[in-house]
Amino acid sequence: MGCQTSKSGQQDELDADKELGDFLTPEEVELVRNTWEIVKQDIPGTGIYMFTRLFELQSDFKKMFKRMMTQTETGEYDFDWNKLGNHANIVMNALDNAVDGMGDSSYLSKGLTELGERHKMYSVKPEMVPLMWPAVRDALKQALSEDFTVETELAWKHVFDYIVCKMTSGMRRADKPHSANGVAS
Ligand code: HEM
Repeated sequence: MGCQTSKSGQQDELDADKELGDFLTPEEVELVRNTWEIVKQDIPGTGIYMFTRLFELQSDFKKMFKRMMTQTETGEYDFDWNKLGNHANIVMNALDNAVDGMGDSSYLSKGLTELGERHKMYSVKPEMVPLMWPAVRDALKQALSEDFTVETELAWKHVFDYIVCKMTSGMRRADKPHSANGVAS
């Protein structure tokens, strides 16, 4: 189970083969599907909560979201909550697609690997992606209240581990020179 964070090419190949079933039991898939039905009732609210928590916990990430900010008269930067709200929706919709695509995760894996490659262009480093978990966990907890059980938390953590595995493998792929279609020449 799980995904290594080693940078070796051999490990990349192993990670590339991992699918959702390597991270979650069928019972956990069911738990994620059921709780997502509740979370999805307020995608914008949960998305904003998640980003607010992320910037509280990892304030150095703020600078990466310059496009979501506007400069005040005093020259300081403030978040433009309309833009950030749109972006929070995009991220939450990516999660929605992830839950929808859980039946056949090979298609989903390809999308997440490409998402990782794009994050490389946003200057996100592989080690930053797992740091998002506490914010995601707190947003789920807030949305699910009493339905946020220990089992639910673990099931979602496993979804997150899978997302991190695929995104970081895409980032490492983007690192390699001349790496078309994931095959380094
Ligand atoms: C579970 C992990 C994450 C998911 C699912 C995710 C998802 C997304 C999505 C769907 C976009 C929209 C653009 C696109 O599709 O390429 C995006 C943009 C972006 N993400 Fe992430 N992201 C994750 C983690 C992170 C982390 C940890 C950071 C920063 C430390 C980050 C920084 C950014 C930035 C800077 C953008 C571009 C914003 C802009 O439009 O200027 N992401 N992300």
